[in-house]
Amino acid sequence: MNATKDYLFSPLVYGSTLSAIGIYFLRQYMQGGQFTKNTDETGRVVIVTGCNQGIGKETVLELARRGATIYMACRDMRKCQQARQEIIKATNNHNVFARELDLCSMKSIRNFADGFKQEQNKLHILINNAGIMDCPKMLTEDGFEIQIGVNHMGHFLLTLLLLDVLKSSAPSRIVVLSSIAHRFGRIKRDDLNSEKSYDRKMAYCQSKLANILFTRELSKRLEGTGVTVNALHPGVVNTELFRNTPFLGSKIGKILIAPFIWIFIKTARNGAQTSLYAALDPSLENVSGKYFSDCTPKHVGSAAQYDDDAEFLWAESEKWTNISI
Ligand SMILES: *[C@@H]1O[C@H](CO)[C@@H](O)[C@H](O)[C@H]1NC(C)=O
Repeated sequence: MNATKDYLFSPLVYGSTLSAIGIYFLRQYMQGGQFTKNTDETGRVVIVTGCNQGIGKETVLELARRGATIYMACRDMRKCQQARQEIIKATNNHNVFARELDLCSMKSIRNFADGFKQEQNKLHILINNAGIMDCPKMLTEDGFEIQIGVNHMGHFLLTLLLLDVLKSSAPSRIVVLSSIAHRFGRIKRDDLNSEKSYDRKMAYCQSKLANILFTRELSKRLEGTGVTVNALHPGVVNTELFRNTPFLGSKIGKILIAPFIWIFIKTARNGAQTSLYAALDPSLENVSGKYFSDCTPKHVGSAAQYDDDAEFLWAESEKWTNISI
Protein backbone atom coordinates (compact mmCIF):
# COMPACT_ATOMS: atom_id res chain seq x y z
CA MET A 1 0.00 0.00 0.00
CA ASN A 2 2.69 2.41 1.10
CA ALA A 3 4.72 1.76 -2.03
CA THR A 4 1.72 2.58 -4.22
CA LYS A 5 1.11 5.68 -2.22
CA ASP A 6 4.71 6.78 -2.63
CA TYR A 7 4.54 6.09 -6.32
CA LEU A 8 1.39 8.18 -6.65
CA PHE A 9 2.49 10.99 -4.46
CA SER A 10 6.13 11.44 -5.38
CA PRO A 11 5.70 12.88 -8.86
CA LEU A 12 2.99 15.14 -7.54
CA VAL A 13 5.06 16.30 -4.62
CA TYR A 14 8.24 16.72 -6.64
CA GLY A 15 6.32 18.33 -9.46
CA SER A 16 4.69 20.91 -7.27
CA THR A 17 7.87 21.58 -5.34
CA LEU A 18 9.75 22.19 -8.56
CA SER A 19 6.95 24.42 -9.86
CA ALA A 20 6.93 26.37 -6.62
CA ILE A 21 10.68 26.89 -6.82
CA GLY A 22 10.38 27.81 -10.49
CA ILE A 23 7.60 30.31 -9.78
CA TYR A 24 9.60 31.76 -6.90
CA PHE A 25 12.65 32.41 -9.08
CA LEU A 26 10.50 33.66 -11.96
CA ARG A 27 8.95 36.14 -9.53
CA GLN A 28 12.36 37.18 -8.20
CA TYR A 29 13.52 37.69 -11.78
CA MET A 30 10.43 39.69 -12.75
CA GLN A 31 10.79 41.95 -9.71
CA GLY A 32 13.99 43.26 -11.31
CA GLY A 33 17.19 44.87 -10.08
CA GLN A 34 17.68 46.38 -6.66
CA PHE A 35 19.57 49.51 -5.73
CA THR A 36 21.62 48.39 -2.74
CA LYS A 37 24.42 50.95 -2.51
CA ASN A 38 24.56 52.96 0.69
CA THR A 39 24.53 56.71 0.22
CA ASP A 40 24.06 59.60 2.62
CA GLU A 41 21.71 62.27 1.24
CA THR A 42 21.77 64.58 4.25
CA GLY A 43 21.59 68.17 3.07
CA ARG A 44 20.52 67.18 -0.46
CA VAL A 45 17.26 68.74 -1.65
CA VAL A 46 14.91 66.64 -3.77
CA ILE A 47 11.57 67.19 -5.53
CA VAL A 48 9.44 64.18 -6.46
CA THR A 49 6.22 64.70 -8.44
CA GLY A 50 3.12 62.54 -7.99
CA CYS A 51 4.27 60.72 -4.90
CA ASN A 52 1.33 60.16 -2.56
CA GLN A 53 1.29 56.45 -3.51
CA GLY A 54 3.01 53.77 -5.57
CA ILE A 55 6.52 54.17 -6.94
CA GLY A 56 6.72 57.84 -6.01
CA LYS A 57 5.86 57.23 -2.37
CA GLU A 58 8.38 54.37 -2.11
CA THR A 59 11.01 56.59 -3.70
CA VAL A 60 10.37 59.36 -1.16
CA LEU A 61 10.42 56.83 1.69
CA GLU A 62 13.88 55.56 0.70
CA LEU A 63 15.22 59.09 0.11
CA ALA A 64 13.91 60.07 3.55
CA ARG A 65 15.69 57.08 5.11
CA ARG A 66 18.90 58.37 3.54
CA GLY A 67 18.43 61.79 5.12
CA ALA A 68 17.38 63.92 2.12
CA THR A 69 15.21 67.03 2.34
CA ILE A 70 12.23 66.20 0.18
CA TYR A 71 9.42 68.19 -1.41
CA MET A 72 6.50 65.95 -2.27
CA ALA A 73 4.72 67.64 -5.20
CA CYS A 74 1.17 66.33 -5.46
CA ARG A 75 -2.26 67.32 -6.71
CA ASP A 76 -4.31 65.72 -3.93
CA MET A 77 -3.09 67.48 -0.79
CA ARG A 78 -5.09 65.31 1.60
CA LYS A 79 -3.45 62.10 0.30
CA CYS A 80 -0.09 63.87 0.08
CA GLN A 81 -0.21 64.96 3.74
CA GLN A 82 -1.23 61.46 4.76
CA ALA A 83 1.67 59.87 2.85
CA ARG A 84 4.03 62.51 4.28
CA GLN A 85 2.97 61.70 7.85
CA GLU A 86 3.53 57.98 7.25
CA ILE A 87 6.99 58.63 5.80
CA ILE A 88 8.01 60.93 8.66
CA LYS A 89 6.79 58.34 11.16
CA ALA A 90 8.67 55.50 9.44
CA THR A 91 11.97 57.39 9.00
CA ASN A 92 11.95 60.06 11.71
CA ASN A 93 13.13 62.46 8.99
CA HIS A 94 11.14 65.66 9.50
CA ASN A 95 12.54 67.39 6.42
CA VAL A 96 9.74 66.03 4.25
CA PHE A 97 7.26 68.59 2.94
CA ALA A 98 4.00 68.38 1.02
CA ARG A 99 3.39 71.04 -1.64
CA GLU A 100 0.60 71.41 -4.15
CA LEU A 101 1.38 70.77 -7.82
CA ASP A 102 -1.28 70.13 -10.45
CA LEU A 103 0.46 69.17 -13.69
CA CYS A 104 -2.83 69.83 -15.53
CA SER A 105 -2.38 73.54 -14.90
CA MET A 106 0.51 75.75 -16.02
CA LYS A 107 -0.57 78.26 -13.39
CA SER A 108 -0.22 75.63 -10.66
CA ILE A 109 3.18 74.56 -12.02
CA ARG A 110 4.45 78.15 -11.97
CA ASN A 111 3.06 78.67 -8.46
CA PHE A 112 4.79 75.52 -7.26
CA ALA A 113 8.16 76.52 -8.76
CA ASP A 114 7.92 80.08 -7.36
CA GLY A 115 6.96 78.79 -3.92
CA PHE A 116 9.77 76.25 -3.90
CA LYS A 117 12.38 78.87 -4.80
CA GLN A 118 11.16 81.10 -2.00
CA GLU A 119 11.77 78.26 0.47
CA GLN A 120 14.97 76.75 -0.94
CA ASN A 121 17.91 78.02 -2.93
CA LYS A 122 19.19 74.51 -3.66
CA LEU A 123 17.82 71.61 -5.70
CA HIS A 124 20.00 68.54 -6.23
CA ILE A 125 17.53 65.99 -7.56
CA LEU A 126 14.31 66.45 -9.53
CA ILE A 127 12.33 63.26 -10.10
CA ASN A 128 9.61 63.64 -12.72
CA ASN A 129 7.62 60.70 -11.45
CA ALA A 130 3.96 61.65 -11.91
CA GLY A 131 2.18 59.96 -14.76
CA ILE A 132 -1.23 59.04 -16.04
CA MET A 133 -2.11 56.20 -18.37
CA ASP A 134 -4.82 55.08 -20.69
CA CYS A 135 -7.25 57.95 -20.06
CA PRO A 136 -10.39 58.72 -22.02
CA LYS A 137 -10.02 61.94 -24.02
CA MET A 138 -9.68 64.85 -21.65
CA LEU A 139 -7.97 68.22 -21.78
CA THR A 140 -5.84 69.99 -19.22
CA GLU A 141 -6.74 73.47 -17.98
CA ASP A 142 -4.64 74.85 -20.83
CA GLY A 143 -6.24 72.69 -23.53
CA PHE A 144 -3.56 70.01 -23.81
CA GLU A 145 -4.61 66.41 -24.41
CA ILE A 146 -4.18 65.12 -20.86
CA GLN A 147 -1.61 62.33 -21.37
CA ILE A 148 0.87 64.45 -23.34
CA GLY A 149 -0.17 67.36 -21.10
CA VAL A 150 0.65 65.76 -17.73
CA ASN A 151 3.31 63.22 -18.67
CA HIS A 152 5.31 65.53 -20.92
CA MET A 153 4.26 69.20 -21.17
CA GLY A 154 3.68 69.74 -17.44
CA HIS A 155 7.04 68.22 -16.56
CA PHE A 156 8.72 70.12 -19.42
CA LEU A 157 7.56 73.42 -17.93
CA LEU A 158 8.38 72.37 -14.36
CA THR A 159 11.89 71.25 -15.30
CA LEU A 160 12.69 74.41 -17.25
CA LEU A 161 11.40 76.60 -14.40
CA LEU A 162 13.74 74.78 -12.00
CA LEU A 163 16.83 74.67 -14.25
CA ASP A 164 18.44 77.78 -12.74
CA VAL A 165 18.39 76.33 -9.23
CA LEU A 166 19.49 72.89 -10.50
CA LYS A 167 22.45 74.52 -12.27
CA SER A 168 23.48 76.56 -9.25
CA SER A 169 23.33 73.41 -7.09
CA ALA A 170 25.42 71.26 -9.49
CA PRO A 171 26.29 68.41 -9.45
CA SER A 172 22.57 67.75 -9.71
CA ARG A 173 20.32 65.29 -11.49
CA ILE A 174 17.00 65.15 -13.30
CA VAL A 175 15.29 61.77 -13.45
CA VAL A 176 12.49 61.27 -15.98
CA LEU A 177 10.12 58.32 -15.58
CA SER A 178 9.26 57.01 -19.01
CA SER A 179 8.15 53.49 -19.92
CA ILE A 180 9.00 50.63 -22.22
CA ALA A 181 5.75 51.71 -23.94
CA HIS A 182 7.81 54.43 -25.65
CA ARG A 183 8.79 51.73 -28.15
CA PHE A 184 5.25 51.70 -29.53
CA GLY A 185 4.98 55.48 -29.63
CA ARG A 186 5.13 57.90 -32.53
CA ILE A 187 5.35 61.69 -32.40
CA LYS A 188 2.32 62.81 -34.39
CA ARG A 189 3.83 65.87 -36.03
CA ASP A 190 0.57 66.80 -37.72
CA ASP A 191 -1.57 66.15 -34.63
CA LEU A 192 0.56 66.26 -31.47
CA ASN A 193 -2.48 67.27 -29.40
CA SER A 194 -4.66 64.46 -30.83
CA GLU A 195 -7.29 66.87 -32.13
CA LYS A 196 -7.90 65.00 -35.39
CA SER A 197 -8.01 61.55 -33.79
CA TYR A 198 -7.55 60.10 -30.32
CA ASP A 199 -6.46 56.64 -29.31
CA ARG A 200 -5.87 56.37 -25.56
CA LYS A 201 -3.11 53.76 -25.85
CA MET A 202 -1.29 55.59 -28.63
CA ALA A 203 -1.58 58.88 -26.77
CA TYR A 204 0.07 57.22 -23.75
CA CYS A 205 2.87 55.74 -25.88
CA GLN A 206 3.41 59.12 -27.57
CA SER A 207 3.72 60.81 -24.16
CA LYS A 208 6.26 58.22 -22.95
CA LEU A 209 8.26 58.59 -26.17
CA ALA A 210 8.13 62.36 -25.56
CA ASN A 211 9.73 61.76 -22.13
CA ILE A 212 12.72 60.11 -23.79
CA LEU A 213 13.07 62.63 -26.60
CA PHE A 214 12.92 65.41 -23.99
CA THR A 215 15.69 63.69 -22.01
CA ARG A 216 17.78 63.33 -25.17
CA GLU A 217 17.46 66.97 -26.17
CA LEU A 218 17.81 68.37 -22.64
CA SER A 219 20.98 66.37 -22.00
CA LYS A 220 22.58 68.09 -25.02
CA ARG A 221 21.53 71.50 -23.79
CA LEU A 222 22.90 70.77 -20.32
CA GLU A 223 26.36 69.61 -21.43
CA GLY A 224 29.04 71.09 -19.20
CA THR A 225 26.60 72.43 -16.59
CA GLY A 226 27.01 69.60 -14.06
CA VAL A 227 23.29 68.82 -14.38
CA THR A 228 22.52 65.38 -15.78
CA VAL A 229 19.20 64.06 -17.08
CA ASN A 230 18.31 60.42 -17.61
CA ALA A 231 15.11 58.54 -18.40
CA LEU A 232 13.98 55.15 -17.19
CA HIS A 233 11.45 52.36 -17.37
CA PRO A 234 10.40 51.51 -13.80
CA GLY A 235 9.04 48.10 -14.78
CA VAL A 236 5.44 47.04 -14.93
CA VAL A 237 4.25 48.04 -11.51
CA ASN A 238 1.03 47.36 -9.70
CA THR A 239 -0.17 50.82 -8.84
CA GLU A 240 -3.19 52.93 -9.49
CA LEU A 241 -1.93 53.47 -13.03
CA PHE A 242 -4.30 50.72 -14.15
CA ARG A 243 -7.37 52.41 -12.68
CA ASN A 244 -8.51 53.67 -16.08
CA THR A 245 -7.94 50.40 -17.93
CA PRO A 246 -11.43 48.99 -18.56
CA PHE A 247 -11.22 45.30 -17.55
CA LEU A 248 -8.17 45.34 -15.28
CA GLY A 249 -9.65 48.20 -13.28
CA SER A 250 -12.86 46.27 -12.39
CA LYS A 251 -13.34 44.14 -9.25
CA ILE A 252 -13.58 40.79 -11.08
CA GLY A 253 -10.67 41.73 -13.28
CA LYS A 254 -8.57 42.44 -10.21
CA ILE A 255 -9.36 39.05 -8.62
CA LEU A 256 -8.72 37.09 -11.83
CA ILE A 257 -5.36 38.67 -12.51
CA ALA A 258 -4.16 38.68 -8.89
CA PRO A 259 -1.89 35.56 -9.21
CA PHE A 260 -0.36 36.88 -12.43
CA ILE A 261 0.18 40.25 -10.82
CA TRP A 262 1.99 38.57 -7.93
CA ILE A 263 4.39 36.85 -10.32
CA PHE A 264 4.79 39.29 -13.18
CA ILE A 265 4.09 42.73 -11.77
CA LYS A 266 6.57 44.53 -9.58
CA THR A 267 5.69 45.81 -6.15
CA ALA A 268 5.87 49.59 -5.86
CA ARG A 269 8.99 49.20 -3.71
CA ASN A 270 10.74 47.25 -6.45
CA GLY A 271 9.40 49.69 -9.04
CA ALA A 272 11.21 52.50 -7.21
CA GLN A 273 14.65 50.87 -7.49
CA THR A 274 15.60 52.22 -10.92
CA SER A 275 14.54 55.75 -9.89
CA LEU A 276 16.79 55.48 -6.82
CA TYR A 277 19.62 54.13 -8.96
CA ALA A 278 19.30 57.01 -11.45
CA ALA A 279 19.02 59.59 -8.68
CA LEU A 280 21.72 58.32 -6.33
CA ASP A 281 24.23 55.88 -7.81
CA PRO A 282 27.69 57.53 -7.58
CA SER A 283 28.83 55.75 -10.75
CA LEU A 284 26.28 57.81 -12.75
CA GLU A 285 27.76 61.15 -11.68
CA ASN A 286 28.72 62.08 -15.26
CA VAL A 287 26.17 60.00 -17.14
CA SER A 288 23.49 61.94 -19.03
CA GLY A 289 20.98 61.38 -21.85
CA LYS A 290 20.69 57.67 -21.08
CA TYR A 291 17.83 55.25 -20.48
CA PHE A 292 17.72 52.70 -17.66
CA SER A 293 15.66 49.69 -16.73
CA ASP A 294 16.19 47.23 -13.84
CA CYS A 295 19.03 49.41 -12.52
CA THR A 296 21.13 49.10 -15.68
CA PRO A 297 21.55 51.12 -18.88
CA LYS A 298 19.37 49.87 -21.76
CA HIS A 299 18.90 50.83 -25.40
CA VAL A 300 15.91 52.95 -26.29
CA GLY A 301 13.52 51.88 -29.03
CA SER A 302 14.15 53.02 -32.60
CA ALA A 303 11.34 55.59 -32.32
CA ALA A 304 13.41 57.43 -29.71
CA GLN A 305 16.54 57.80 -31.85
CA TYR A 306 15.44 60.60 -34.16
CA ASP A 307 17.06 63.92 -33.32
CA ASP A 308 14.67 65.77 -35.61
CA ASP A 309 11.67 64.44 -33.62
CA ALA A 310 13.40 65.55 -30.41
CA GLU A 311 13.99 69.03 -31.87
CA PHE A 312 10.43 69.27 -33.20
CA LEU A 313 9.00 68.26 -29.82
CA TRP A 314 11.24 70.72 -27.99
CA ALA A 315 10.16 73.63 -30.21
CA GLU A 316 6.47 72.70 -29.85
CA SER A 317 6.82 72.31 -26.08
CA GLU A 318 8.38 75.77 -25.80
CA LYS A 319 5.47 77.22 -27.78
CA TRP A 320 2.78 75.40 -25.81
CA THR A 321 4.19 76.23 -22.40
CA ASN A 322 5.44 79.69 -23.34
CA ILE A 323 8.94 79.21 -21.96
CA SER A 324 12.37 78.86 -23.54
CA ILE A 325 15.97 78.44 -22.51
C1 LIG B 1 33.04 62.76 -13.26
O1 LIG B 1 33.82 63.78 -13.87
C2 LIG B 1 34.69 64.46 -12.95
C3 LIG B 1 35.34 65.62 -13.69
O2 LIG B 1 35.86 65.20 -14.91
C4 LIG B 1 35.68 63.48 -12.36
O3 LIG B 1 36.52 64.11 -11.43
C5 LIG B 1 34.91 62.33 -11.67
O4 LIG B 1 35.81 61.35 -11.22
C6 LIG B 1 33.90 61.70 -12.64
N1 LIG B 1 33.09 60.74 -11.90
C7 LIG B 1 32.91 59.46 -12.25
C8 LIG B 1 32.09 58.60 -11.36
O5 LIG B 1 33.39 59.00 -13.29
